[in-house]
Amino acid sequence: MLAINRKDAGTPAAQGEPVKLTIDGAEVTVPAGTSIMRAAAAAGGAIPKLCATDTLKAFGSCRVCLVEVEGQRGYPASCTTLVAPGMKVKTDSEKLRQLRKGVVELYVSDHPLNCKGCPADTHCELQSVAADLGVTSSPYGFDGANHQSAPCDTSNPYFQFDPSLCIACSRCVRACDEVQGTFALTIEGRGFASRVVASQDQPFLESECVSCGACVESCPTAALSEKPLVTMGRPEKAVTTTCAYCGVGCSFEAEVKDEQVVRMVPSRDGKANRGHACVKGRFAYGYATHADRITTPMIRRQITDPWQPVSWDEAFKYAASEFRRIQARYGRESVGGITSSRCTNEETFLVQKLVRAALGTNNVDTCARVCHSPTGYGLKHTLGESAGTQNFDSVMHADVIFVIGANPTDGHPVFASRMKRRLREGARLIVADPRAIDLVKSPHIKADYHLPLKPGTNVALINSIAHVVVTEGLVNEAYVAERCEPGPFQKWRDFVAQPQHSPEAMAAITGVPAELVRGAARLYATGGNGAIYYGLGVTEHSQGSTMVLGIANLAMATGNIGREGVGVNPLRGQNNVQGSCDMGSFPHELAGYRHVSDAATRALFDAEWGVQIEPEPGLRIPNMFEAALDGSFKALYCQGEDIAQSDPNTQHVTAALSSLECLVVHDLFLNETAKYAHVFFPGSSFLEKDGTFTNAERRISRVRKVMHPLAGLADWEATIGFARALGYEMNYTHPSEIMDEIARLTPTFTGVSYEKLDRLGSIQWPCNDAAPEGTPTMHIDRFVRGKGRFYVTEYVPTSERVNARFPLILTTGRVLTQYNVGAQTRRTANSQWYEEDVLEIHPQDAEDRGIGSGDWVGVTSRAGETVLRAVVTERVQPGVVYTTFHFPDSGANVITTENSDWATNCPEYKVTAVQAVKVQRPSDWQRRFRDQNEQQLGLLRGARAHERSRQ
Ligand code: SF4
Ligand code: SF4
Ligand code: SF4
Ligand code: FES
Repeated sequence: MLAINRKDAGTPAAQGEPVKLTIDGAEVTVPAGTSIMRAAAAAGGAIPKLCATDTLKAFGSCRVCLVEVEGQRGYPASCTTLVAPGMKVKTDSEKLRQLRKGVVELYVSDHPLNCKGCPADTHCELQSVAADLGVTSSPYGFDGANHQSAPCDTSNPYFQFDPSLCIACSRCVRACDEVQGTFALTIEGRGFASRVVASQDQPFLESECVSCGACVESCPTAALSEKPLVTMGRPEKAVTTTCAYCGVGCSFEAEVKDEQVVRMVPSRDGKANRGHACVKGRFAYGYATHADRITTPMIRRQITDPWQPVSWDEAFKYAASEFRRIQARYGRESVGGITSSRCTNEETFLVQKLVRAALGTNNVDTCARVCHSPTGYGLKHTLGESAGTQNFDSVMHADVIFVIGANPTDGHPVFASRMKRRLREGARLIVADPRAIDLVKSPHIKADYHLPLKPGTNVALINSIAHVVVTEGLVNEAYVAERCEPGPFQKWRDFVAQPQHSPEAMAAITGVPAELVRGAARLYATGGNGAIYYGLGVTEHSQGSTMVLGIANLAMATGNIGREGVGVNPLRGQNNVQGSCDMGSFPHELAGYRHVSDAATRALFDAEWGVQIEPEPGLRIPNMFEAALDGSFKALYCQGEDIAQSDPNTQHVTAALSSLECLVVHDLFLNETAKYAHVFFPGSSFLEKDGTFTNAERRISRVRKVMHPLAGLADWEATIGFARALGYEMNYTHPSEIMDEIARLTPTFTGVSYEKLDRLGSIQWPCNDAAPEGTPTMHIDRFVRGKGRFYVTEYVPTSERVNARFPLILTTGRVLTQYNVGAQTRRTANSQWYEEDVLEIHPQDAEDRGIGSGDWVGVTSRAGETVLRAVVTERVQPGVVYTTFHFPDSGANVITTENSDWATNCPEYKVTAVQAVKVQRPSDWQRRFRDQNEQQLGLLRGARAHERSRQ
């Protein structure tokens, strides 16, 4: 069913030279390759259509779009017939109406126009085509064979398939193939017997369907419908906003009725997603109104006390008086803050401002510490800017796609679909990952090279790839000579050329056969445009920063930076992790990645904020924990980040949190961290506020308010309240004013404003006088730092070694349907697909230990022990086990250690030496966790009763 306000041109846009033709007597000019249907739409007309839509290739099956073309016999379908110079087209005539009417009457014979009460009523394409042609019923009657009693498939929690409303146009099948790339649907049978089936004629829920919703959106009738549309009825308006899940940053039209979301429709002009979405952004928004939301501010003196509901003012006053008391007693540096990568840029900016200006310390950090801080370090040092080099569209120009330590189909699904489309068009694929991720082999895609390296050996692998490039004469000498510093390049060249870096020598370390490494290196260096996409499998290592340097070295050496189709592209995890870094959330950097030691930068901020910013970097998150345990760090303001679940070595983290005298948690739910809190500020979801998010492409997109904040204040308003209670005035009436301040203070944001965002839709920074509409591709003629700089990347094995006691390596990742710590997705029907974290183990390791799929397995590391259910699979290699961290009581981070990246302290989540044995009961930690959970929920009960009485 068509989205509100959506125009559909019928077939996709073409890119050819201009072609002039005449449609119904009017002259039109369109690019060669355009269909007559699209040309007619460009001329302001609309040819009736059923099987065509502008997100899918023309198919030509329904025959309602027939036209007359002068000089041509018959009546060609306008969706499949391309324009030609001088062509004369007639889109309306008595004959055409007759032909179209005949077709539509046939459709209506199996799809009576009983539209009242249908979820698509007034927005059904069959209904409107029939109305235009004056068809109200079928002359063939409804007594013959039909599909009217076919049962509705309601198995999917989010949408239903009602075959009685299906007109077998195959738009859904083509959407699943072309847009999503899952190939879960087929049309089975021919003619009247044609019907849509999922996988092997299974209910949707049991099929290969990944619930992206592309089929639902493409359906012209209500055969495929979102369930809320059926229960809530037509939405009243659409508000353009941005997904609050992953770093792809998909743009959506939130279709709303009475301040409630009826459905989320991906924007076709969204530049990050081009009209596509995944199961999280499109469907899993119900957490925003979940009963677990806390909507009243609360305080308590000790974490064993019941929560007391209070007014916002009381909460601000209490938190502020505690922070001031603590600073008076333990010193100014005894407090700090953590900004959120889920909140808006404006909110993040305000939290770091509060810490630096109101609290007078640089003790502020963000969750990027635990994911992409090595990206910032590595790309800043080599290229001069701490961000990815391309936009997502760039992948459509790549000839060789090199995916390292990322699992895009699960972590960044909409971008993965685009990447798969390019791969189906013929781009080649290299995957470096310890696991056989889906991309290695999926419908119509097979990686040319899968390099199944041992976890923790990334740098050895990148050095051996570079060795092949350097020793086989594959360096792009002209590019390097023109664009890179010669001295460091020569040092790097000499270094990687050493025999100990050859693939043959490194195979013993990486576990990857030398011929695979040589083949992959040759392909990347010589296969045309080479684009690298990487994820946390690169950064979350003791040598995360070294690996990012190594990736940038390789891209520069092969001339693969500075144009479309190439580049070094970190796939950012959370929706606004790029933005939280940009906004000055790190303890050593002000907004725009400028070091706090730089007096000129500080002077700018000092003047704007009326304070004197400290010139010394503050504490990073792990240092805050250490200082808390030492007794020198006593109060923390933590917004939108569940450090007790997401940070490594849980027992260490919770010990640190327990030692704080005032922990302020600002979040939607009583998360794991809030169980150690003294003040709770109820947070606002992305639907409840205005602001911006910045995605992995550096794309700044608007977040727009759809409903009023459930707790009365949006997060940015609450931070202002807290700052004022601390005695520091913040005067903003709207987030646009915060963005204006960011633009005044940040050279890469100088040209950003809400007015421009509204006008352009989105903007990729840098946006300033040099690039007034933003920068899709960076480093085009020169690197941001001037000349690109190579770094020697010595491989240093992690200290986390396997031995007889801990013989397996545990590595971690995500699944499609859950997100990060799961606080949002666990409160949606997404848990139907994944209801607990499991341990993937290779059949050989499982057999050695007598473990079968479904058994409970005790997983012990040097840091702790937890118990997970086993899944025996060849996806992981022998010696490697794998899990996710979406559920707090699975305790994945109880076993991860405190090892971290040498440069940035990013935790080494991807390498933990463990033992796995079959067990019968939860671990001690899990039993303690469950007891504490019960206790904390008990302490919340009084406050919840108070909340309910107010409603
Ligand atoms: S929801 Fe997505 S994956 Fe599932 S059938 Fe539809 S298009 Fe295919
Ligand atoms: S379910 Fe909808 S899109 Fe799919 S074939 Fe039927 S009418 Fe067409
Ligand atoms: S791909 Fe990411 S941004 Fe897009 S809908 Fe899915 S979760 Fe949201
Ligand atoms: S819309 Fe052209 S044949 Fe269906």
